[in-house]
Amino acid sequence: MLQIWLSLLSGLCLRLVFLCSAEEGLEFPNFDGKDRVLDINERNYKKALKRYDLLCLFYHEPLPANKGLQKRFQMTELVLELTAQVLEDKDIGFGMVDSQKDSKVAKKLGLEEVGSLYVFKDDRVIEFDGELSADTLVEFLLDVLEDPVEMINNAMEIRFTTKLMSQCLYVNEHLNFQRQAACEVKTHNTVAKHLSLKMNEVNFYEPFMEEPAILPGRPLSEMDIVEFVTQHRRATLRKLRAENMFETWEDDMDGIHIVAFAEEEDPDGYEFLEILKDVARDNTNNPELSIVWIDPDDFPLLTTYWEKTFKLDLFRPQIGVVNVTDADSVWLDMSNDEDLPTAEELEDWIEDVLSGRVNTEDDDEFADDQDNPDSYITEDSDESRDPDEEDDGDD
Ligand SMILES: *[C@@H]1O[C@H](CO)[C@@H](O)[C@H](O)[C@H]1NC(C)=O
Repeated sequence: MLQIWLSLLSGLCLRLVFLCSAEEGLEFPNFDGKDRVLDINERNYKKALKRYDLLCLFYHEPLPANKGLQKRFQMTELVLELTAQVLEDKDIGFGMVDSQKDSKVAKKLGLEEVGSLYVFKDDRVIEFDGELSADTLVEFLLDVLEDPVEMINNAMEIRFTTKLMSQCLYVNEHLNFQRQAACEVKTHNTVAKHLSLKMNEVNFYEPFMEEPAILPGRPLSEMDIVEFVTQHRRATLRKLRAENMFETWEDDMDGIHIVAFAEEEDPDGYEFLEILKDVARDNTNNPELSIVWIDPDDFPLLTTYWEKTFKLDLFRPQIGVVNVTDADSVWLDMSNDEDLPTAEELEDWIEDVLSGRVNTEDDDEFADDQDNPDSYITEDSDESRDPDEEDDGDD
């Protein structure tokens, strides 16, 4: 499934290449043809690591012989080149590491997953697990460049920050020790008062939650904070974002995801999202529950694929269970236009999902089970497949 997504997504960078504006002032960058991406090898990798604030390495298979695959490879390279061009003024290096030619370097750098992008910053390695398009990558790298510890200076900023990502808020003049913490630590006295944040207390905000969790124990060490944040990393309601969409999707709950589609800009979608938030707030302490919210507006290239795969109308809000192995799914019936489910009804349905009463497998007997003698759909797939393959081979 990842493969399908990836190939669909690699098309995104075309937008940047072919879009030209007739008037000045909105100029999308075109690749200027200048090579900026380094071919990393044993001779230059140490120097590259030292030279840049960030080093962004694409770990790839050797250039394939197949023409189509070559094109895909070049598209990826183009995404990197364009990103490097756009971020030319920042201190970011880009490079390609060949899994065969440069296997020794890969081993030394700890690159494991072929097809992945690794970002080296100080002593840390961050794997980019998002959509491989220039705009997403640029946004991600700019984010990584920024200090993970930020000061909040007024209450307005808080409203903007406590939204999509988990974060920690903290008041203290001595911030040094959390600089490496895997969360954002923010502080200012007047802001703290506004949040009723106590001195030396770290509050953890999950996305969409109004009430923070207060980290236990005092004084807190860096380890304590990292451990707490790691443990609470999977939020009750998570928005699928291009920057880490694969990471989110791979973090499934025993092979399934509860997925909600809702367009925030659409009145029904907005209302449904408010219901989802209520449910999430009521169930934030249930470690079993996590709902992946997808706003179809954020993924125009994937929308038709989802509609086809899940047999859904994504102009309307939807919620269902998806098996991540085969993308089999079941969806809550919300066909009555006027009636979105109430929070209680949604909670009942979620309970059914978590207990297994609602699952993707029950309806399979009728459609897929070839061993079932009562099944009225017969598939003589074995006989029909073989000749096809032979035909292909002869060509
Ligand atoms: C998901 O689908 C696979 C393959 O059809 C199946 O073996 C597995 O049991 C399913 N998982 C769940 C949780 O339904």
